[in-house]
Amino acid sequence: VTHLRNEAPIAVFDSGLGGLTVVSALTELLPREDVVYFGDTARVPYGTRSAQTVLNYAHACASVLREQRAKLLVVACNTVSALALDALARELLYPVLGAIEPGAVAALAASEGGQGGARIGVLATPATMRSGAYPKAFLAIDPHAHVFVHPAPLLVPLVEEGWLQGDVPRLAVREYLKPLAEKNLDALLLGCTHYPLLGAIVAEELAALTGKHIPIIDSAHAIANEIRAQIESKAIGTERDYTGKIRIIVTDKSDEFDSMATRFLGHPLGEIPVTAVDL
Ligand code: DGL
Repeated sequence: VTHLRNEAPIAVFDSGLGGLTVVSALTELLPREDVVYFGDTARVPYGTRSAQTVLNYAHACASVLREQRAKLLVVACNTVSALALDALARELLYPVLGAIEPGAVAALAASEGGQGGARIGVLATPATMRSGAYPKAFLAIDPHAHVFVHPAPLLVPLVEEGWLQGDVPRLAVREYLKPLAEKNLDALLLGCTHYPLLGAIVAEELAALTGKHIPIIDSAHAIANEIRAQIESKAIGTERDYTGKIRIIVTDKSDEFDSMATRFLGHPLGEIPVTAVDL
């Protein structure tokens, strides 16, 4: 008998539309799964708010997430994962997976980790940085790791504007990388939903600043790999043999919605239905 649970969707939660980078990575790895995406677009950005406000926002979103009856909740947002993962897990009746740990595992795996422990740089939102969640996650896996987290707040609005090329994003990236470039890094983790879209510029600037090739890991791909691992180990994969459906729920649908969603998803929305809810 097919378990009902196997045919339930995977829910993906984010502060806005940036988490569609995770949906894009996920649908490549698990194309047959249904995905319901919930973005709190009325309140984005979370990354510049206080810890208490992020907790309050996540709590407000929990009711919508609970209604989805998903088999797994993926918190694509690094800021929510850093500050409210446990709180969300307590409010839901299905398993919850965050972005921090998969990113840490992937960054450690990519680093050569020379003598004296791996040296890992992380770019993240200010709220994620202040939470201390990344150093904690890295040190839990490798107590000898050296972790340097640097905030890059301007990259979120740049990506939302679609300003992905040219001098403006390049200069912002360079300034944010300067303090990290001095740390003799073994790997750099992009610890935010939005940063993968600037991955090429980050790679070029980091190479220019250090003269070295340093592996760059993005947490969107790391989390998608972890979703697949959990679906397999829990044996909750769908048994359908056709392409899964994506649905999007947002708290605000602005005029920019289509172009922004297209950018994060990497392809036009096409048939994907979009619903707006009030919280
Ligand atoms: N989704 C957030 C994150 O990954 C970035 C956008 C925001 O600040 O809300 O941290």
